[in-house]
Amino acid sequence: MDALTALHTRSSANILTEPAPTARQLDNIIKAALRACDHRSLKPWKFLLIDGNARQKFGELMVNVKSSADGKELEPNLAAKIKSKPMRAPTIIAVVAAIQEHEKVPTIEQVLSAGAAAQMMMVAAHAQGLGAIWRSGSMMFRREMLEGLGLAPTDQIVGFVYLGTPKVVKPIPIVDVSEFLERWDGIQ
Ligand SMILES: Cc1cc2nc3c(=O)[nH]c(=O)nc-3n(C[C@H](O)[C@H](O)[C@H](O)COP(=O)(O)O)c2cc1C
Repeated sequence: MDALTALHTRSSANILTEPAPTARQLDNIIKAALRACDHRSLKPWKFLLIDGNARQKFGELMVNVKSSADGKELEPNLAAKIKSKPMRAPTIIAVVAAIQEHEKVPTIEQVLSAGAAAQMMMVAAHAQGLGAIWRSGSMMFRREMLEGLGLAPTDQIVGFVYLGTPKVVKPIPIVDVSEFLERWDGIQ
């Protein structure tokens, strides 16, 4: 698939099954992430691969984080639902902005760079025929989640890229570029 086709046809896949991305496909995905725009080349990124049994442990971590956010033990049904969330794909990559103190590059630019890395991963997955979806949730903003993933308190999770084989391929909506692009030609 050529680059413009990949960029123009990427879509998210909610349901992802085996086979998981191969080591080579994962390598290509991370290589693409590492070409995200990056002010002053800080490389303010960390990527955590969560697959196999680690997904169960990640589910348990999600339950613990939610329970600590709610200040109580979760009802068994809710706990089971949350615990199973990481099983929605064979492979997950947590995308993290590893924020550095920098006089010229504020936190927002580093978070944007990590977001750009996540988007590059999404397109690299699609270009290789994989399915992917970028997921988030309030839990990723909690200190307990950073701790559970072994991240630094200054890190910020920008999302979880779920990867696998798509069950359904969504049709791509037709877009009218002119709805989003307007020419600005001077002070109004
Ligand atoms: C920062 C961010 C967080 C997101 N979090 C979720 C999420 O938690 N759950 C979800 O279903 N979609 C989430 N999405 C949206 C999907 O990744 C996806 O973009 C959306 O479903 C639209 O589908 P499309 O990418 O095929 O246009 C998020 C997107 C972004 C950019």
